[in-house]
Amino acid sequence: MSACLILETVSPEETQALGEILGRLAQAGEVIALCGELGAGKTCLAQGLGRGLGVTVPVVSPTFVLAREYHGRLPLWHLDAYRLGSEEEAEESGLTDYLPGEGVTVVEWADKIAGLLPEDRLTIRLTFFGSGRRLEVRGPADRLAALAAQWETG
Ligand SMILES: Nc1ncnc2c1ncn2[C@@H]1O[C@H](COP(=O)(O)OP(=O)(O)O)[C@@H](O)[C@H]1O
Ligand SMILES: [Mg+2]
Repeated sequence: MSACLILETVSPEETQALGEILGRLAQAGEVIALCGELGAGKTCLAQGLGRGLGVTVPVVSPTFVLAREYHGRLPLWHLDAYRLGSEEEAEESGLTDYLPGEGVTVVEWADKIAGLLPEDRLTIRLTFFGSGRRLEVRGPADRLAALAAQWETG
């Protein structure tokens, strides 16, 4: 069953802290779709996610390479669909070979390849909200409940 959770972050540190929780909770084979315009905080969230997975090198934007792999508690694949023109192009580029992967796959500009993503993914839509960000998280109800509980306890 799909549910929805609305969260707010007031600073980049808080967006990263939310990502860190996602990283700590992440399970093998998980796909996290990030949606939102340029500057919305997708890479910022992915950076925290890397930290939560125990990745020790900085996570940087994969825009120009389409995909980067990191090593943490689970492998992390960080994909960026920004430069892709179509879902066909995504498949031809090999990007979809990581969907789902053995570890955690996080996809920026996921709207562009939504049709190629697994149904049971987490989808996070980031929008500007005052001086911070609003995050709409959709996915399996049990995953959202775990995330909400961790977010409240910090
Ligand atoms: N809650 C927030 N409040 C203010 N700034 C934020 C927040 N979350 C992230 N940012 C900042 O937004 C900027 C753009 O983030 P980035 O992750 O690069 O966006 P995207 O990958 O979506 O283009 C960064 O400078 C980041 O620190
Ligand atoms: Mg980015």
